[in-house]
Amino acid sequence: AEIMKGQYDHFMQKEIYEQPESVVNTMRGRVNFDTHTVMLGGLKAYLPVIRRCRRLLFVACGTSYHSCIAVRPVFEELTDIPVAVELASDFLDRRTPVFRDDVAIFVSQSGETADTILAMRYCLERGALCLGVVNAVGSTLSRETHSGVHINAGPEIGVASTKAYTSQYVALVMIAVQLSDDSISKTARRQQIIEGLYHIPKQIRSVLEMDKVLQQMAKEMLGKEKSLLIMGRGYQYATCLEGALKIKEVSYMHSEGILAGELKHGPLALVDEHLPVIFIMTKDSLYPKVQSALAQVTARKGRPIIICNEDDNSVSSEFKTFRVPQTVDCLQGLINVIPLQLLSYHLAVMNGVDVDFPRNLAKSVTTE
Ligand code: AGP
Repeated sequence: AEIMKGQYDHFMQKEIYEQPESVVNTMRGRVNFDTHTVMLGGLKAYLPVIRRCRRLLFVACGTSYHSCIAVRPVFEELTDIPVAVELASDFLDRRTPVFRDDVAIFVSQSGETADTILAMRYCLERGALCLGVVNAVGSTLSRETHSGVHINAGPEIGVASTKAYTSQYVALVMIAVQLSDDSISKTARRQQIIEGLYHIPKQIRSVLEMDKVLQQMAKEMLGKEKSLLIMGRGYQYATCLEGALKIKEVSYMHSEGILAGELKHGPLALVDEHLPVIFIMTKDSLYPKVQSALAQVTARKGRPIIICNEDDNSVSSEFKTFRVPQTVDCLQGLINVIPLQLLSYHLAVMNGVDVDFPRNLAKSVTTE
């Protein structure tokens, strides 16, 4: 069947707006909100092997790589297994050592990305258990891996990946929860995460309802700015990287995601009264550290825009803010990425970019 834009101007916009439903589709029939458990059929038979592995190796490109970065902390916390996250091209360039007792997880929307497929074949040859976290059913990655999870986000047409990111993120968190369900000491944490997942769709919806504010922000940024920094740390590092990629890709504006902990190691030199900096400053254990990065930037007359939680009174009213609902720390990135997707969309439209087909890019990169 032909996929239509319906009431939307672009597929990217439609796909951003689909997220309250697409994340539900990722969880449907798999997350039990009464017993606080996850059952992913494709992983069931492999659970004992995965739990005993020497390392979890995540391999992906672009946005799919960012979803792996987003969930690394929760995998480390829930499984106590060492985790490596690799860009497929670099992983291959280095001929990274891989062992029979490694478990490699390949994350891809299309399942057809050349580098990710080559990395998978490389791991298969070395005897690692290979799992796919894929959107496109029947794709090369889903066929050639030993097993895996379909994210069920529905077809994604826009070159800029949006709903696939949030569904990959949810699917990966679900895997981490299922892997840890033999650990009694983590029961309360799993319960907290599953309760958090339950509320995510309506929280995403409430951010989408504030779209006009982001459209206005984009208008104010337009033309004046040459570059935009997005700063955060911990769980929000991935949000920074993903937000910056979205902005580059569809608005052709330079943008960089910066780990706030690295600020004094170089990026601070860029900061002046002209450079817009978005701070991702939602409440978690690293909040005080992000506050101190903010102080560093304002001391250099930087002009921060702050993404913070609705009820956060400690953010000074002198700053431009965008306020989002709070969820469990490891899920907050699902909410925080939405305003960045919308901002990049509006910047693109205002710049006259063919949003769904930005220049020089293909939806799936099937060559090395
Ligand atoms: C995302 O907006 C990009 N178009 C791109 O980075 C993409 O995520 C990457 O090429 C990986 O694609 P895949 O998920 O289909 O493997």
